[in-house]
Amino acid sequence: MSANWSNRTIWTGDNLPIMRGMNSESVDLIYLDPPFNSKANYAAPIGSEAAGAEFKDTWTLQDVDITWLDLIEAKHPRLNKVIHAAMSKSDKSYLIYMAVRLLEMHRLLKPTGSIYLHCDPTMSHYLKLLLDAIFGRKNFRNEVVWCYTGPGSPNMRQFNRKHDLVFWYSKGTLWTFNRDQVRIPHKQLNTNSKGAAISAPLTSEERDRYLEKGKVPETWWSKFSPVGRIKSERVGYPTQKPLSLLERIVKASSNEEDVVFDPFCGCATTLVAADRLQRNWVGIDISDVAVRLVEDRIKADQGLFQDIKSRTDVPQRTDIGEILKYNDLRNKKLLYGEQGGHCNGCGKHFEQQNLEVDHIIAKKQGGTDHLANLQLLCGYCNRVKGDRGQEYLIAKLAA
Ligand SMILES: C[S@@+](CC[C@H](N)C(=O)[O-])C[C@H]1O[C@@H](n2cnc3c(N)ncnc32)[C@H](O)[C@@H]1O
Ligand SMILES: [Zn+2]
Repeated sequence: MSANWSNRTIWTGDNLPIMRGMNSESVDLIYLDPPFNSKANYAAPIGSEAAGAEFKDTWTLQDVDITWLDLIEAKHPRLNKVIHAAMSKSDKSYLIYMAVRLLEMHRLLKPTGSIYLHCDPTMSHYLKLLLDAIFGRKNFRNEVVWCYTGPGSPNMRQFNRKHDLVFWYSKGTLWTFNRDQVRIPHKQLNTNSKGAAISAPLTSEERDRYLEKGKVPETWWSKFSPVGRIKSERVGYPTQKPLSLLERIVKASSNEEDVVFDPFCGCATTLVAADRLQRNWVGIDISDVAVRLVEDRIKADQGLFQDIKSRTDVPQRTDIGEILKYNDLRNKKLLYGEQGGHCNGCGKHFEQQNLEVDHIIAKKQGGTDHLANLQLLCGYCNRVKGDRGQEYLIAKLAA
């Protein structure tokens, strides 16, 4: 499917409504490094390039989450089970936030696409369950462990936590893996037992070729230092990831001209890596400081790019073909049957002529006229809701 945005677009805003407005199957590779539910607020140091960038990483269960949960319950029963495995309200709220976004990412990927989710051990176990429920266990490709070193405090009462996790899932059974572009040197090859490092015996020529070619890296990566130690890269963004790590991912799982998408792009590490490797890219971050950094960073990296597009609007999908006007009688009849004649707000029963067709996700938040986004409400509920999303109506009715 063709994209409904131009190459090198960077959006400022919440990625959920923006992703909802992006065409399906328009992206080859997604890398995301979302907030981790770390109970921390990240702020960039004053005076750094990223000063002013801040994001909250604490979660409480709100009415909005409950509404999402209702929607997930109806349409994605497996996902619903995973969310209910959460041990606290805060974890549940975080999982709902991630689930609705990962569902969109799944839709956005081409059938041959891949997603890499970067996280730390705080929520990794739950995130993997979410990915299993959305992408399917059979599409789990790798769990990459990014190991690094660093000082601990002198009186530690546990081991020093120094690794992150990156889960790779493909969307389907065909995926890109450019093994020759990410090979690394063999550390050693046991010369006494010819070819012992691989299964088949080798002639000396084969051996030389094998050594020269290098090997496909293992799933633990230890050569990428945290950005705090790479002065040339550091922009002061509190959660910045090393460029070399992103370059390996982009090289391995996309080709030139492919579309790379980072929905939590921070200071644009993914986008810089994609740009350097001649990939197309698109990014979103809720912080306007992050977006300014993206522009500065890409321009500084490549010299003269003038064609970066900054957007703040919610895009309108162009891939859903001819769809009926939302309040077409045919929609109304189908929905009347689906809801058994009940208003989707107050739950009371009405005759068909007393119910009105309404958008579940508000149009201004990227909701479409697609049947899946429509419901019937009684006149009263529809007036209360106005042009807002369903979460508003539910919160109002509960108050
Ligand atoms: C862990 S950081 C990403 C860092 C990035 N990988 C880098 O190297 O700079 C997470 C980012 O997600 C952004 N963010 C948080 N909630 C968001 C949302 N709902 N939509 C878009 N971006 C969001 C934050 O502003 C923050 O920049
Ligand atoms: Zn009602």
